[in-house]
Amino acid sequence: MQLIHTLDPLRNTVDSLGAAGSLALVPTMGALHDGHLTLVREAKRRATHVAVSIFVNPLQFGANEDLDAYPRQLERDCALLEAEGVELVWAPGVDVMYPEGFATNISISGVSEGLCGASRPGHFDGVATVVCKLFNQVRPDMALFGEKDWQQLAVIRRMARDLDLVRPRADAILGVPTVREADGLAMSSRNAYLTEAERGRAAILPEAMHAAVSAIESGIAPGEALSQLARTLLSEGFLSVDYAELRDAENLRLLEARSNRPMRLLVAARIGKARLIDNMAVSP
Ligand code: PAJ
Repeated sequence: MQLIHTLDPLRNTVDSLGAAGSLALVPTMGALHDGHLTLVREAKRRATHVAVSIFVNPLQFGANEDLDAYPRQLERDCALLEAEGVELVWAPGVDVMYPEGFATNISISGVSEGLCGASRPGHFDGVATVVCKLFNQVRPDMALFGEKDWQQLAVIRRMARDLDLVRPRADAILGVPTVREADGLAMSSRNAYLTEAERGRAAILPEAMHAAVSAIESGIAPGEALSQLARTLLSEGFLSVDYAELRDAENLRLLEARSNRPMRLLVAARIGKARLIDNMAVSP
């Protein structure tokens, strides 16, 4: 496995990997867990070669967010990826990704608005800008992202189509279902911020979401199910609910009533020092 930090050696390696079969990219910010490794395994099934990028992207963190506290453990991450048969780890420094004078911003309207786009202004511009650069640097045939970050997946799909970043085929931007802990909590590098007591209570989030999904599917008005969901979280030790919304699963349009298209329940809520996000399918 090659660990590469600068652009010239990256070009040589991706050119030779690309010439000898297909190349899949799994973009990450490191502190890898089983969710990330599931993306890597799916990538291995679908492409000849797998590259993983590890870059804690300052552009996607707000001024008061956890950029400095974000866990960084490159050596451990590389050992995990080597064991999975990954051939390339692309880990540029901030000065390589954003050299002096960097002045470009990629902004996707529509799907970036609302949800995390409202509670984290500029976040999706930062994600889109870095992911666009990663595509240009690695030039993969396909890239894999987790459904855990449903809005991010929608933003990247929109950008890839709009900017012709990958060959248009159905699985060029592949979404992989959320990987969960035994108690249902979605795996996240940010779960490390929770104390033991908070971690115990955090699984209330997916539990309460399942209850809301069932309620909506059985005909309860979405507004009522969502208010009940927020009340449950606040009474079970969550500090605040950034949003709890029912949206169209694909175009992310806000739904006030049930739709006959696939829907998605999306929630962000704070507990202790962590802001947890999760989302689940709601059947028409
Ligand atoms: P990061 O949070 O490290 O996540 C990297 C990828 O792993 C994302 O596609 C994310 O959706 C996926 N992932 C995280 N937890 C998951 C889980 N429990 N189940 C399935 N997939 C999961 O998302 C980012 O990094 C960044 O925004 C990035 C796309 C790398 C751009 O900087």
